[in-house]
Amino acid sequence: MRISVIGCGYLGAVHAACMAKLGHDVVGIDVDPRKISELQSGRAPFFEPGLPELLDEVLATGRLKFSADMADAKGAEVHFLCVGTPQRKGEYAADMRYVDGAFSSLLDSLEPGNVVVGKSTVPVGTAARLADDLAERHPDAVLAWNPEFLREGFAVKDTLSPDRFVYGVPAGAAGERATAVLDEVYSTPLSLGTRRLTSDYATAELVKAAANSFLATKISFINAMAEVCEVTGADVTLLADAIGMDERIGRKFLNAGVGFGGGCLPKDIRAFMARAGELGADQALTFLREVDDINVRRRTRTVELTRTLVGGSLLGKRIAVLGAAFKPDSDDVRDSPALSIAAQLQLQGADVTVTDPEAIEGARRRFPELMYEADLMQAIHKADALLLLTEWQEYRNLAPEAATLAVHTRNILDGRNVLDPARWRAAGWNYKGIGRP
Ligand code: UGA
Repeated sequence: MRISVIGCGYLGAVHAACMAKLGHDVVGIDVDPRKISELQSGRAPFFEPGLPELLDEVLATGRLKFSADMADAKGAEVHFLCVGTPQRKGEYAADMRYVDGAFSSLLDSLEPGNVVVGKSTVPVGTAARLADDLAERHPDAVLAWNPEFLREGFAVKDTLSPDRFVYGVPAGAAGERATAVLDEVYSTPLSLGTRRLTSDYATAELVKAAANSFLATKISFINAMAEVCEVTGADVTLLADAIGMDERIGRKFLNAGVGFGGGCLPKDIRAFMARAGELGADQALTFLREVDDINVRRRTRTVELTRTLVGGSLLGKRIAVLGAAFKPDSDDVRDSPALSIAAQLQLQGADVTVTDPEAIEGARRRFPELMYEADLMQAIHKADALLLLTEWQEYRNLAPEAATLAVHTRNILDGRNVLDPARWRAAGWNYKGIGRP
């Protein structure tokens, strides 16, 4: 099929490359010419495992092109909207200007019979509103809402073989046509067994909001348990293992630590609360405010734990922060707990050096006042405390004996509970985990 993908960020660039991998002819479009020229020459503008190799492979087939001109969407039968919906400045609600802008400029490139497919995470009601606009300008085009569930770090795999597809489509023949077209787009993963559900627009939009809310709730639940463990001397990692053995609960997303960040979970639960408020259903989601509060509290709590770890005062203490990205295998620093903690420590007088295998450039742009060091052993040189805040494999592998030779004082805060406390303590370290004795 001929496909256009509007927006080439974390979602769109991966989607465009994966659609070409599935055999389609794809044009990826973005307003940022720098991003387009990088992608066109096979370089991913962000770190995502497997994406550079995939870009090389599909660019060589000639099935994938990139363009900064929306007019190049003309000729495609299916148009995927993949632009961002960040949090509005000073508000909880989503900023819809990129979706609205991309959609209205796409209207000029549509041809009779085209299918427009929204993938962006949007407030419920958006698809119905855009469908009305579409019907006015192009009565025989159809809109579908097909939320995306990919995780950064696994984006290629999640796009090529997701655990489910959800199609929000209108009732009647138009909806059947959109479903048939999407089935053709995704014929390979569907033939390999990916499940597919069709629904009305609102349900499809809500599936996405509900999924991310549930994941955020799971993380905040275990972090709340960590707070209780801390005052009782219990161990939250054992607690998670034990409750996770109940299949109804499951062990995934029960890792206590410095909490969730990134460009999705934090802003999605806030946008969901804001939208519920507009719809008069705010009471239904007041628990998400608590989920958010627990998560934000993790960050201040980590600052306090660090203060205690270094003897009661942060002033002039050399702190090495291991990790800047919001999670490993990503260079994304949007709402990163690690960076937010690093910045708070610095504000309170500590001398903070941040290291990360991939995210230093982005981190420096957001927090230029922090010091950065790409080399791990240099970063921990003469440190009074190490803070493992993003669990990259190389930090999990750090040997306490090697770290001992570099640091000033053997203090470590394991903000993701991924190190072996016994091993670090045996090597003479003052080890502190989250919600662990
Ligand atoms: C999340 C969802 O997992 C995806 O399904 C969804 O498609 C995506 O948002 C989106 O809306 O686009 P992502 O933001 O890539 O994906 O990251 P996650 O893997 O969900 O991690 C989010 C945060 O939670 C990270 O900061 C991670 O460190 C933290 N986390 C995760 C925990 O603190 N504990 C856990 O047990 C799991």
